[in-house]
Amino acid sequence: MKVLVATQKPFSAAAVAGIKDIVLAAGHEFAVLEKYPEQADLVKAVADADALIIRSDKVTAEVLEAARNLKIVVRAGAGFDNVDLAAATAHKVVVMNTPGQNSNAVAELAIAMMIFMSRNQFTPATGGEVMGKRLGIQAFGNVGRLVGAKAKALGMELIALDPFLTPEQIEAGGAKPVFNVEELYSNADFVSVHIPALPATIKSIGYDLITKMPKGATLVNTARKEVIDEEGLMRALEDRPDLKYITDVMPDNYEALREKFGLRVFATPKKMGAQTAEANMNAGLAAARQIVDYFATGNTRFQVNK
Ligand code: 3PG
Repeated sequence: MKVLVATQKPFSAAAVAGIKDIVLAAGHEFAVLEKYPEQADLVKAVADADALIIRSDKVTAEVLEAARNLKIVVRAGAGFDNVDLAAATAHKVVVMNTPGQNSNAVAELAIAMMIFMSRNQFTPATGGEVMGKRLGIQAFGNVGRLVGAKAKALGMELIALDPFLTPEQIEAGGAKPVFNVEELYSNADFVSVHIPALPATIKSIGYDLITKMPKGATLVNTARKEVIDEEGLMRALEDRPDLKYITDVMPDNYEALREKFGLRVFATPKKMGAQTAEANMNAGLAAARQIVDYFATGNTRFQVNK
């Protein structure tokens, strides 16, 4: 079987070498396509691939149509909103993610972002400390729980919202459960967003929610830009000069935000939450192992298009 690693934002060389070793050791063929400038390059490269390892690369209906031999796509990471699941299912392609494998990297970035904003983006003006502040964690999954543990060690108080967990499960993770988003935003000096981009969550964080935050609060988004209503965010920052926003996913209106609000907003130039040597290795190798296992045993444990 031919396993293609197609990553516009490449893994580290060590991770690619590790993936290659796993693929070749299992008797499969290995190919890599990195930093490709056009989506058409991906469409061309998948023509003879049996398996595909991707990151935020877009596996559209067109890609799936072109990939005549494709049997499995593994998104080396958590979010799979970049894969057309319905088209994959229609083409009988199994789609998996590698949950948890890059979570620590994202959690560390979320913590760094809170401190960066508390210290006025590392400029000399008097800043604040995170110790003693209350952190609201929106979704207490792999990343949210790690953010919570690290924040607790920094002396922060935790509240968390997760509709898929019981209050007991949230308490076991060290946070006080809250039961709706309004309660979360109204009571948090920082909100760290860890929800996926789904029809129900897209643009779900807007003016009403953001302006519920207490004085001087900061919204931290290491999830997806789509979950923010950018127009609402703009109005919220206008009406509430005490609020701040930092994100690992550049908003479409970032230039205007930055021009209007200066150091109250910040976006990384390219999504970097999972861009560590460790996360590359963990997620990349997990993806390769899942593919090898799927071909050997049919294991679909991490399938997301069931
Ligand atoms: C994820 O969903 O796993 C993260 O957003 C990381 O995405 P990336 O692999 O494109 O860095």
